Amino acid sequence: MSSAPDQPVRAGYVVDMHSHLLPDVDDGIRSAGDALTCLRQFAEWGIQHVVTTPHISQDTFPNTSALLRTVAAELQTHIELAELPLTFSLAAEYMVDELFVKHLQQNDLLSFGTERYVLIETGWASLPLQLNTWLFQMQLQGYKPILAHPERYPYFRGKPELLADLRHQGCLMQLNLMSLAGRYGPDTRRMAQTLIHDGLVDFVSSDLHHTRDLPMLEKSMQTPDYRELCKLPLSIPTFD
Ligand SMILES: [Fe+2]
Repeated sequence: MSSAPDQPVRAGYVVDMHSHLLPDVDDGIRSAGDALTCLRQFAEWGIQHVVTTPHISQDTFPNTSALLRTVAAELQTHIELAELPLTFSLAAEYMVDELFVKHLQQNDLLSFGTERYVLIETGWASLPLQLNTWLFQMQLQGYKPILAHPERYPYFRGKPELLADLRHQGCLMQLNLMSLAGRYGPDTRRMAQTLIHDGLVDFVSSDLHHTRDLPMLEKSMQTPDYRELCKLPLSIPTFD
């Protein structure tokens, strides 16, 4: 976090719970070597645990839990061989669609932490009509829902009260670090600033997809907005 020229940058958070590090299962990392490059950099920033969250969506990435567990076990072997000083686990980023509902009804969601957090995302056009129902059902089954990058959804712009309402229903909010450096454009950056100002952020994470995201993540950690974000009472997942 320090901006001094010869001091290493520190992340300021210890669990990164949103990333796309499994080779070739979604639009993220393509090789184990690239995954190790990213994880090594995470460790240098002071991150102690990384949860990788490959996409699961009916239309684009209909990954199964079994396939993802197999690929994650392979990457875990590489991490151990490389003796990286961090721990690693698998969850997923679920698009709220028919496939998600099927997984929910089968009680087959990849969650993380002893809290059983589940990361979800939605399409860009609108909030899913039955989102409230699914959020309620998830919590009945013992899961804690987290909405990925709320600052990126156009349907929340100018309506932070919609987002606050979801949060009151038990849906936690995860801000993307790179939103603070303008990675997704000025509107998203402004919304991120609003969420920080209003205290509507529960987690911050990388949503890393490529090794080329690393410089912008580091830049984001050095922004004034990030220093403000670190003053919020963010949640820290726990692991057995
Ligand atoms: Fe993501």
